Parts: sequence; C-alpha cells; structure tokens
Amino acid sequence: MDKRIIVAIDGPAGAGKSTLARRVAARLGFVYIDTGAMYRAVALWAERSGIGWSDPGRLEHLAREAAISLTRGGRVMLNGEDVSEPIREPGISQGASIVSAIPGVRRELVAKQQQMGREASAVMEGRDIGTVVFPDAEVKVFLDASPKVRAERRVKDLAGRGLEADFDSVHKEMVERDARDSTRPDSPLRQAPDAVYLDSSGLNENEVEEALLRIVREKTSNGKEVLR
Ligand code: DC
Repeated sequence: MDKRIIVAIDGPAGAGKSTLARRVAARLGFVYIDTGAMYRAVALWAERSGIGWSDPGRLEHLAREAAISLTRGGRVMLNGEDVSEPIREPGISQGASIVSAIPGVRRELVAKQQQMGREASAVMEGRDIGTVVFPDAEVKVFLDASPKVRAERRVKDLAGRGLEADFDSVHKEMVERDARDSTRPDSPLRQAPDAVYLDSSGLNENEVEEALLRIVREKTSNGKEVLR
C-alpha cells in the first residue's frame, strides 16, 4: 500500500472509541493513536508539577515540552516514563478535559498528532480528529452510545482495573465532561459533516468492529488491499 490512510474516530467519553480503534488498527496493521492519552499526559504532568489546570501559559509550555509517545504495545510514555496507569485516574480525566479547552495546549498537541499521522497509516481517536486534526481523513466515524450505557461501561472498565466507582458519580462526571468538551469554543466535540454516525449502545465489540471495517471498505477505493 503506497497511500497513507487515516481512520478518524470521534465521539464522547465511554462510547467505546479506544477498544474499537485498538482492534481495527490491529486488523488493518495500522498504528493506533489515542489522542485523549496525550491530553491526559499533559494534565498528569501539570498536576505533578503543581501547575494549576487554569494556568494557560504554563500549560501550553508543558504541552510543547512534553515528549509523548504511544508504543505499538499500547503503552503511553511521558518524558521516558510509562504513565499508562496514572493517566486513567478519575481526577486526571477531569484535568484532561479542562486543559484540553486551552487553545495553546490544543495547538501543540494537534501538531504532534498531525506529525504522527504523517508517518504511517493510523486509526486515530479523539474529539476533533475528523474536524480539525485530519479534516481530509479517508474514513470518519462519530461513535456514540447513550449516556447510561457509556457510564455503565466506564464503571466496568474502572472495576477491571481495581478502581471502585459507583454508577451515579461516574454518570455525573461523564455528563459534566461531555458538556465541557462539547461547548468549549476551540474545537468542540462535534460530528464532522462527512462522518458516519455509529451508535454502539446495542452492539457488542465484534459488531462495532465489523461495522467500522465495512465503512473502511466502502470509503477506500483500494479496500481489498487495505483489509488483508
Ligand atoms: O478520550 P479521553 O477520555 O481519554 O480524553 C480525555 C479528555 O481529553 C477529554 O475529556 C477531552 C480531551 N480530548 C480532546 O479535547 N481532544 C481529543 N482529540 C482527545 C481528547
């Protein structure tokens, strides 16, 4: 395959973007890029450095200086340290949502994401991939699910990692985070006009994966070559 292909998956928290992106990247032999992990890494670094989440100048500086890499094995590295676990803590979820509203932080991380996407075919997931990071992506999907289903999935996900959480507080935090991510002036979460809307509420992981692979096949002229 000589042409680089970008599969963009956007949508709210808990819609299943990470699972879907990881699986489809493995099926296609593409790189998986979790852009939310990059905002989380900046929030974690800010917290550890004692920088307030509402200090735009210093946060932009951190975003510029942060050496963030996403390994093939799915680990998230920040300045040489594996931060895959600490960035998933609930406090960092809220912090990431707050720092991601700062235009200077977005500018720095979007530039890093565009560079990653130039290097290899990728499945990239986030909030603004199809609208801002790669508006010319070959495949764009807006993955959604009902707030109830998304909160249930998040509780299960946290439990799987040994973190106790009750449905009501997870649901409340998720609704707050979605509202912030969708109403910020810079690159709010929204569906690109040319994205395919996919509701995963009633589907299992295999069904969502198959649905996206069908879309990839339809949208890429060389779909047979892409889908080995
Ligand atoms: O996908 P996630 O929950 O790991 O993302 C963490 C936060 O980062 C989320 O609340 C919004 C923000 N984010 C963003 O603004 N743009 C992206 N492309 C990805 C995430």
